[in-house]
Amino acid sequence: MQRLTINNVREQVVGIDARVPLLDGTYAPYINLDNAATAPALRPVFDKVNEFLRWYSSVERGSGFKSRLSTEAYNKAHRIVSEFVKADSERYTTIFVKNTTEAVNKLAHRLPLAKEDIVLRSLMEHHSNDLPWRFKADTKYIDVNAHGGLDLDHLDYLLKKFSDRIKLVAISGASNVTGCLNPIHEIAAQVHAIGAKIFVDAAQLVPHRKVEMGLPENPEHIDYLAFSAHKMYAPYGTGVLVGLRETFIQGDPDCVGGGTIELVTTGEIHWAHLPEKEEAGTPNAVGAVALAEAILSMQEIGMENIAAHETRLTAHLLQQLNKLDGVRIYGDADPESASHRLGVIPLTIDGVPHQLVAAILAFEGGIAVRNGCFCAHPYVLNLLHVSRDRIESYKNEVAQGSHEHLPGLVRVSFGCYNEEWEVDALVEQLRRIVRREYKGDYVQDKETGEFQPKGIFDDFERFFAL
Ligand SMILES: Cc1ncc(COP(=O)(O)O)c(C=O)c1O
Repeated sequence: MQRLTINNVREQVVGIDARVPLLDGTYAPYINLDNAATAPALRPVFDKVNEFLRWYSSVERGSGFKSRLSTEAYNKAHRIVSEFVKADSERYTTIFVKNTTEAVNKLAHRLPLAKEDIVLRSLMEHHSNDLPWRFKADTKYIDVNAHGGLDLDHLDYLLKKFSDRIKLVAISGASNVTGCLNPIHEIAAQVHAIGAKIFVDAAQLVPHRKVEMGLPENPEHIDYLAFSAHKMYAPYGTGVLVGLRETFIQGDPDCVGGGTIELVTTGEIHWAHLPEKEEAGTPNAVGAVALAEAILSMQEIGMENIAAHETRLTAHLLQQLNKLDGVRIYGDADPESASHRLGVIPLTIDGVPHQLVAAILAFEGGIAVRNGCFCAHPYVLNLLHVSRDRIESYKNEVAQGSHEHLPGLVRVSFGCYNEEWEVDALVEQLRRIVRREYKGDYVQDKETGEFQPKGIFDDFERFFAL
C-alpha cells in the first residue's frame, strides 16, 4: 500500500465519501468536526481488523494455531502501545481496558489511597478524571484562569499547602472543551518534588501530540497515563492504562475472575503476572489489534505532521471566527497561539441556543459538531460564568425531566484528515446562523433539549440497518 502521509490520509478514512441528507432533500458530504468525541477509523485499521478476523480465536487459553497466533497478536499490540509512549517494560505495565473512563476507575481502585489522602485534579477535567477520585480520597480542584487555562499559581499553592497529604495529581494532558494543553512534564517535576505521583488523562492529547512517559531519573516523567482507541482512528472498545508496575504488583485487582490468576485453590488465589492480573475475562483482542494498527498508521504519518496540520486548521478557523460578530470563542482565541493548543474550539452564537446551532449545522450543512457541556460540567459552567442560583434552577429543571435551558457550548474539533474547505463551510454556516438566514423551522424537544426541524424524521434504515 502507498505510504500514509498527512497529505493522503484523508483518502484513507473509512466512510469519508459518505453523503448525508439535508433539510432541503439534497445530499451533502459529511463534514466531521467532532473528532474529540470519536474519530473515524483509518483504512489500514479496517483492513487489519478484517484480516485478523479470519485468524482470531481464544487468547491465552487455547493450544490451537489460531489461539497461539491471536495470543501473539494481542501481546504484540501491548508492545506497540508501550513503545508508542516509550513505556519501559521493566518499570511500566500496559493494561488494556475498555476506555479511558475504565482506566481511571481502575487506577483509582488500585492506588492505595486513604480517605484523608488528597488527590488534586483541575476544574477542567472530564468527569472521567474527576468522579472516580471523589470516592477514594479527599479531592481538591486546581483552579483555571480567565481563559480557561490551568492556574499554575494555584497548583503551586496547593502543592505547598498540602504537601504531606497529596498522593496524586490527576490532570488532563489537554482539555476536551478548550483544547488547552497542560504542561504535564513541568507539573510532574513539581509533583515528584513533594513525593507524590502524577496521572495524565491523555484521551485528548495522544491523538494529536507525541507523548512519552519519560525516564525514571528525570523528575518530569509521568507515572500513569490513560487514553482511548476510539479517539485515535481505531473503532472498538479498547482503552489503555500505562502505569508503574509496583502499583499493580501489590494488592488485589479491582476486577477479578478468569484470566487474572496463576493458580486458585479452594482457599487461595495466586495472581497472574502483569498485565494479565489486571485484564480480567476474555480480552478484546480485535480491539487491541485495531488500536495497534492505528498507532502504526499515526506513526507513519508522523505526530509532528499531525500537529502542524491541525495547528494550521485551528489558526485558520480562529482567524475566520474572530471576524464574525456575534460569535464568542471560549478559551484562547488567538490564531497566533494555535500551536500551543489543540484543534478543539468551543463557541456560542449570541441569542441562539447551543442545541439549535448544532442542529442547523447538521441539517443545513451536513456538519457534525458537539454541543452541551462535554462531560465537563464544572469547567463549562465556569467558562460561561453561570451563577450558583442559575445552577440551582437548572438542577430543578433537570429533576423535573427537562433539558430545555441547560447551558452549553458548541465544540468544533479537528482530526488529522480535516481540510481547510471544511473549515470554510463551517464558517459560512455559522455566518448564516448569525444573520438568522437559516431555513428550517426548528422545534425543541424539552426532555432532551435537542432541536429538530419540523416535519423531518430521520430514516436511518435507508443507510444502515441491522
Ligand atoms: C479528556 C477526556 N478524558 C476522558 C474521556 C473519556 O473517554 P472514554 O469515553 O473513551 O472513556 C474523554 C472523552 O471524551 C476525554 O475527552
